[in-house]
Amino acid sequence: MVDWEGPLSKAYERALTYLEGLPEREVGPRATAEELHQALGGPLPIGPTDPREVIEHLAKGVDDGLLPSGSGRFFGFVFGGATPASLAADWLTTVWDQNAGLYAASPAAAVVEDVTARWLVELFGLPASTSVGFVTGAQMANFTALAAARHEVLRRAGWDVEQDGLIGAPPIRVLAGAERHDTIDRALRFLGLGTNSIVPIAVDDQGRMRADALAEALDANPGRTTGRSGINRPTIVCAQAGNVNTGAFDPIAEICEIAHAHQAWVHVDGAFGLWAAVSPGLRQLVDGIDRADSWATDAHKWLNVPYDSGIVLCAHPEPHRAAMSIRAAYLIQDENGERDSLDYNPEFSRRARGIPVYAAIRALGRDGIAEIVDRCQAMADRFAQNLRANDIEVLNDVVLNQVLVRFGDDAVTRRVVTDVQNEGTCWMSGTTWQGKAAMRISVSNWTTGPDDIDRSAAAVLKVFRQLSIS
Ligand SMILES: Cc1ncc(COP(=O)(O)O)c(C=O)c1O
Repeated sequence: MVDWEGPLSKAYERALTYLEGLPEREVGPRATAEELHQALGGPLPIGPTDPREVIEHLAKGVDDGLLPSGSGRFFGFVFGGATPASLAADWLTTVWDQNAGLYAASPAAAVVEDVTARWLVELFGLPASTSVGFVTGAQMANFTALAAARHEVLRRAGWDVEQDGLIGAPPIRVLAGAERHDTIDRALRFLGLGTNSIVPIAVDDQGRMRADALAEALDANPGRTTGRSGINRPTIVCAQAGNVNTGAFDPIAEICEIAHAHQAWVHVDGAFGLWAAVSPGLRQLVDGIDRADSWATDAHKWLNVPYDSGIVLCAHPEPHRAAMSIRAAYLIQDENGERDSLDYNPEFSRRARGIPVYAAIRALGRDGIAEIVDRCQAMADRFAQNLRANDIEVLNDVVLNQVLVRFGDDAVTRRVVTDVQNEGTCWMSGTTWQGKAAMRISVSNWTTGPDDIDRSAAAVLKVFRQLSIS
């Protein structure tokens, strides 16, 4: 009989030790790369090892190299942690090991994801017919949505990109804010449009696309082809809900109105910011969101679902399917009227990553999700106020969960970031905002509370003061 219990109970024991230790654990890796190679490396194993021993060795070997991003005092990037229900469901997703590409390959996974898709559409307040794909992250959500956009704007120009490719196709222009996320550029590279297809649109001091600049560019910018009117050229506009540095939102309602007057497709990258739509208090930040054509977001960020969990949503299921779908004789498709997710995903076989999203939504409910978003926003505010009260400069308007902090000059700011990371109370990274180095604080963990903020702010101030006197 297979010993499942040995390795699984070892994993369970190790998991509990890790999770229960998080609140007081030093927030940062403790081992050097060399030490990790030492602990985990060695020659290729030739013979077998007992699975329990493998799990013990692995858990011990990685421990000091883990970045405890599930801690309430982790403010790096926009990572988020994992709620108990989503984490437990993620384990079961692995246990069940379903291939979620086809209904026939897992009726259970297909139905769970279908239900979850409808819940997400309702949570975000999007059109009821919106189609959904569960992808690895916002990078692939941006890619998938822009593939649908590419299909549709070229179809309207009489070109079938799925069949004929891009050679000889009418050029597509992509208008995107100068402060767009870099994954938009990478998605355009993957799609064969290239980064030179982007017409960067001026932004304001918070990184929001300026609607007047967009209108001007749509009217005037002929792109790289000549002799054609700016109107009715295949055009995609990429807006952003939640700038990765400031958290600021593009004026989406205005952007949709202007872009749609030019028959452009509007895509919204809302990797974390789209979750503001769930909070009654913050929803005005995404005003007009339901008028866009596609959206990208992550469950692994603010919904606090384990990695990898991105979501693509498309107001127009037809182009979404046209860009993604695939048929093969040996598959079981089109027989039961149920959704085959490979029609909406760039992957073929894939993990049933909608299951942990289902569990997260079921456990929290709409109100619980809104509470996390609101609390993170309040905690970001608290961090900013705490620092400002000590004469530290906060560079951005704290509208969501992002705080950009500057300590005098670039060199000191970078040094404070590194020293805080080494100090261990909390962890955040640095960035450059409008030419100035900044500490970038992102509050997106479901456990973060006032005590985490006050301890972290005190640690930041202590590090800064020590630097100032040394
Ligand atoms: C605005 C924005 N778009 C896209 C991404 C990429 O998301 P992911 O890392 O899930 O692919 C991020 C994340 O870091 C982001 O903040």
